[in-house]
Amino acid sequence: MIYRLLRPLIYALPPEVAHRLAFFFLRFVVGFYPIRKLLNAINGHRDPALQVKAFGLDFPSPIGLAAGLDKDAEAYEALGALGFGYVEVGTITAEAQPGNPRPRLFRLVSDRALINRMGFNNGGAERAARRLSRKRETIVGVNIGKTKRVKDEDTIEDYQRSTRLLARYADYFVVNISSPNTPGLRLLQAIDKLDPLLRAVRQSLDAHAGRYVPLLVKIAPDLADEDIDQIADLAVNLGIDGIIATNTTIRRDGLSLSQREIEAIGSGGLSGAPLRERSLDVLRRLRARVGDQVTLISVGGIEDGDEAFRRIKAGASLVQIYTGYIYGGPGLPKRMERELLAAMRREGFDSIQKAIGAGEG
Ligand SMILES: Cc1cc2nc3c(=O)[nH]c(=O)nc-3n(C[C@H](O)[C@H](O)[C@H](O)COP(=O)(O)O)c2cc1C
Repeated sequence: MIYRLLRPLIYALPPEVAHRLAFFFLRFVVGFYPIRKLLNAINGHRDPALQVKAFGLDFPSPIGLAAGLDKDAEAYEALGALGFGYVEVGTITAEAQPGNPRPRLFRLVSDRALINRMGFNNGGAERAARRLSRKRETIVGVNIGKTKRVKDEDTIEDYQRSTRLLARYADYFVVNISSPNTPGLRLLQAIDKLDPLLRAVRQSLDAHAGRYVPLLVKIAPDLADEDIDQIADLAVNLGIDGIIATNTTIRRDGLSLSQREIEAIGSGGLSGAPLRERSLDVLRRLRARVGDQVTLISVGGIEDGDEAFRRIKAGASLVQIYTGYIYGGPGLPKRMERELLAAMRREGFDSIQKAIGAGEG
């Protein structure tokens, strides 16, 4: 309600300014201990039917925040208090880097979409490790990527450096090889590159975490079907715990903007409603290939509980949102919980866990 009133004001600001303001509010108001405690008491009170067990962790709700909003692990506790069942921080790179020049984030309001070419702006793994080392109440996934200035031949070492620094503080770990905004990154999705990378990160995790930390890989929606199948097979063969599908797309289909407007924005990843059907297709394809051997997290164009339930029936154990949150506001995770429970009951299920992969019949 309050968000709806503030929205025109927020939209009047450049997107990154609005983002910094929202983060300031999250860290210092929502994150202020007594307020956070109160919000946790209200929002943490959940219907047990929402609980999901995935890769050995007990998620209080399957609705998580996707990577890219809390890039520097600054506000995961506040975001958890606002109702997310878990928060994925990052993408974090081994070294701090500024990202691409601005403007690099664009609102496409009429399409409920965003285009971004942020380029992994973040303060580096050491700083994030310090922030993550505190005791916490929220399940936190740590998403890592390649430092831009590092040469291609040193990529594995770069991912291992981040892993060494962050392993101990992650509830689950994500190798991101699917952002369109770091040159060459998505080439790591080729099996001959991905296989040694995932093995190396797994080894570093085992050596430095002091316990088993689930390892996931995040893929792009722009892969050909055969490549999706190959990654699915690799995940099964290597015992990868999960696949997150999908990142943003470099396609521009289904937008209401003119060709000129699209060109004026330039390169970057498109997220939000236009990504919905492709993201679901990738999920279905993965599910058909991996069965229940690999956990699937669905992300891309999810804006409400009905869509979240559709993904769960198509085989996702968990879902994530980003763009939907920007347009839907801070109340969205709790609203989605209510809608999800209603959809679940309407279709005769008594828990989310039982609906996973139940099909769309
Ligand atoms: C501004 C912005 C920044 C993002 N940054 C990252 C990132 O650093 N790492 C990552 O894995 N995904 C990143 N993403 C992708 C999201 O995590 C998500 O996969 C994608 O936006 C699709 O979900 P959505 O349609 O709910 O936004 C970013 C997305 C946006 C819009």
